[in-house]
Amino acid sequence: MNAPNPQRVLITGASSGLGRALALWLAKKDLTVYAAGRRLEQLESLAASAPERIRPFTLDVADADAAHDAVKELDRTSGGLDLVIANAGVGDSMSAKSIEWRRVRKVLDVNVMGATATLCGALPGMLERGRGHLVGISSLAAFLSLPKTAAYNASKTYLTAWLESVRLDVEGHGVAVTTIHPGFVRTEMTAKNKHPMPFIIDADDAAERMGRAILKRTKMFSYPLPTSLVVGLASSLPRPLQRALGRRVN
Ligand SMILES: NC(=O)c1ccc[n+]([C@@H]2O[C@H](COP(=O)([O-])OP(=O)(O)OC[C@H]3O[C@@H](n4cnc5c(N)ncnc54)[C@H](OP(=O)(O)O)[C@@H]3O)[C@@H](O)[C@H]2O)c1
Repeated sequence: MNAPNPQRVLITGASSGLGRALALWLAKKDLTVYAAGRRLEQLESLAASAPERIRPFTLDVADADAAHDAVKELDRTSGGLDLVIANAGVGDSMSAKSIEWRRVRKVLDVNVMGATATLCGALPGMLERGRGHLVGISSLAAFLSLPKTAAYNASKTYLTAWLESVRLDVEGHGVAVTTIHPGFVRTEMTAKNKHPMPFIIDADDAAERMGRAILKRTKMFSYPLPTSLVVGLASSLPRPLQRALGRRVN
């Protein structure tokens, strides 16, 4: 597929971490970036670093219907979004032995419903115009179940599977689909982790790697390489061996 230069980008979860770094990277490539999140102050400070390129866009993706409608409206009023990156996400570490429904639901509301609503809000306009690009920030956790992260693991497995299927429907209609699987990156999310995070990288480094893959319209991109290889190998083991491995974590 040809890769026409995108002009207008929406990225969710741009107030911190990967989303913030990627918004800045894309702004440096001269794209107009709608930087979405709930914390307006952080979005405004991000926009101040590239005022002619970055526009704060307040959006709570956990209210999926409202988020869908807001993205659809932005697609209409902006003149058409060329690239939409569903990056907003939350993690939670909780053993199923002390499961709390509301915490499970929050992960699913943001990572599953929020990401899907964001992408669904933009897709019809892209198909009408015959051009566009959907991106989902999944995780290498999509491929390997670990203890205490049931909702998070499953939410990322969902996003990867959903995008794979959507790609089959829209390829050939000018709309590209990219799924990104990061390993550990230093952000607010991972700052809460107490377990070791092998091969962790900085958010700016992650943004550079993801940005390049997105502009090339790569279908699936996993990074960093050592973590991708370890996860790829582990997830190809028979299930009993995967479970034995999972029991050794934490
Ligand atoms: N860091 C890693 O190691 C890693 C690895 C694999 C995948 N990922 C994925 O990368 C993405 C970004 O994570 P991060 O590490 O950069 O974490 P982060 O720094 O905590 O950023 C999460 C972003 O999501 C936004 N968000 C959370 N709830 C939201 C809601 N209800 N509505 C709208 N936005 C919401 C936050 O913005 P507001 O609070 O302003 O709304 C924030 O900008 C996530 O999808 C995560 O699963 C991260």
